[in-house]
Amino acid sequence: MIFQVQQIRADIRDFQQSSGVDKVIVLWTANTERFTDIVPGVNDSADGLLAAIQAGAEVSPSSLFAVASILEGCAYINGSPQNTFVPGVIELAVQKGVFIGGDDFKSGQTKIKSVLVDFLVSAGIKPTSIVSYNHLGNNDGKNLSAPEQFRSKEISKSNVVDDMVQSNHILYKPGEKPDHCVVIKYVPYVGDSKRAMDEYTSEIMMGGTNTIAMHNTCEDSLLASPIILDLVILTELCQRVAVQLQGEEEFQSFHSVLALLAFLCKAPLVPPGSPVINAFFRQRACIENIMRACLGLPPQNYMLLEHKLQKNFLSHMSCNDKVSALKKVALVNGTSKPLTNGFCTHEDDVAYAM
Ligand SMILES: NC(=O)c1ccc[n+]([C@@H]2O[C@H](COP(=O)([O-])OP(=O)(O)OC[C@H]3O[C@@H](n4cnc5c(N)ncnc54)[C@H](O)[C@@H]3O)[C@@H](O)[C@H]2O)c1
Repeated sequence: MIFQVQQIRADIRDFQQSSGVDKVIVLWTANTERFTDIVPGVNDSADGLLAAIQAGAEVSPSSLFAVASILEGCAYINGSPQNTFVPGVIELAVQKGVFIGGDDFKSGQTKIKSVLVDFLVSAGIKPTSIVSYNHLGNNDGKNLSAPEQFRSKEISKSNVVDDMVQSNHILYKPGEKPDHCVVIKYVPYVGDSKRAMDEYTSEIMMGGTNTIAMHNTCEDSLLASPIILDLVILTELCQRVAVQLQGEEEFQSFHSVLALLAFLCKAPLVPPGSPVINAFFRQRACIENIMRACLGLPPQNYMLLEHKLQKNFLSHMSCNDKVSALKKVALVNGTSKPLTNGFCTHEDDVAYAM
C-alpha cells in the first residue's frame, strides 16, 4: 500500500513538473467502489490510516489516491458515490489544510429530483412516493450491476430529498419521509445513452393524489464532463478566497471539507455538524452569494422590497404620487371603497392609510 501511495505522489509531482502547471487538483472519476467499513484503529483517524497503509491493511484505492493527494498538498474531489472520505482521510485533510470535496457527480436524475421535490414541497404539495428506475449500457452500468457497488450508488442517491422534506413541518410530521426507491439496471444496447424514469406521487387537497411521470434520455458522459470541469474550477477559485472576521487579525480559508461543491454533488460532503443542503436553488444561491461577497456586494435575497412598498425608497417617486395613482383606481368603483393594499378612499377624494 505504501508503495502505491508513494507512486501516486511521484506521479503527481512528475505531472506538475512536466506540464508546468502551478497547481494540481486530483479528481476521482474511476469506477464506483463498494462502501468501506469504518474500522477503529484502521481508518477512523489520520494516524491510524497512515499506519494502516504502512502496514498493508486493506484501504480502498480511492482513499489511497486521496491520502497521496493530500500529502502532496493537492485538493481531492470524489466524483463517485463510495465513502472515500473515511474519518481518517477527513482528519488528514484538515490537518494539512487541503480541500476535499464530493461525493458523486450530480448529473441527471438526481439533479432533476433536487429541483422537482423542492418545487413540490415549497408549493405545499406533499410527495409521498418517489420511484426512480435507470438503465444504462456503459462500463459504469456494468460495474453498478454488482450488488455491493450498486449499494454505494443507492446510498448516494437516497438522501437527496431529506432536507427538502424536513424543511416543511406542516406537510411532514417529525421523522416522516416519502417512500423513495432507486433501481439501476445494466442494458448494454443503450450504451452511454442512459434512460431515467421517475414517478413522483404526491398528496394534494381533500385526499387527492397527483402523479408526475418522467422519462429522461441523456448522454451520461456528456452530462458528467462539464461537472468535472466546474468542480475543478470552483475548487481552484476557492483556494484564492480568504476571509477576515470582524475584530480578528488573521485571514482564514474555507473549511477543508469544501461544502461549496455541494451544488455539483449527489451526496454533499460537509464539515462535521453542518446541515446538508441538497435543494438545487439553495445550493446555487449559496455559491452566488459567496461570489457576491467576494466582490463586496450584499447577498441577493430576492425581496425586491423597493418595488413592493407604497414608497419606492430607491426611486424619486414621492408617496403622494403613489396615493393619487391609487385614488384613480378606487374612485372608478364609487366612494369609501376599501382597497386591498391597506388604503381606503373617501367622497372628498382624499386617500387615507388604514
Ligand atoms: N454521468 C456520469 O457519467 C456519472 C455521474 C455520476 C457519477 N459518476 C461516477 O463516475 C465514475 C466513473 O464513471 P464512468 O462512466 O466514467 O466509468 P467507466 O467505467 O467508463 O470508467 C472508469 C475508469 O476507471 C478506471 N479505474 C477503475 N479502477 C481504477 C483504479 N483503482 N485506479 C485507477 N483507475 C481505475 C477504469 O479502468 C476505467 O477506465 C463512476 O463511479 C460513476 O458512478 C458518473
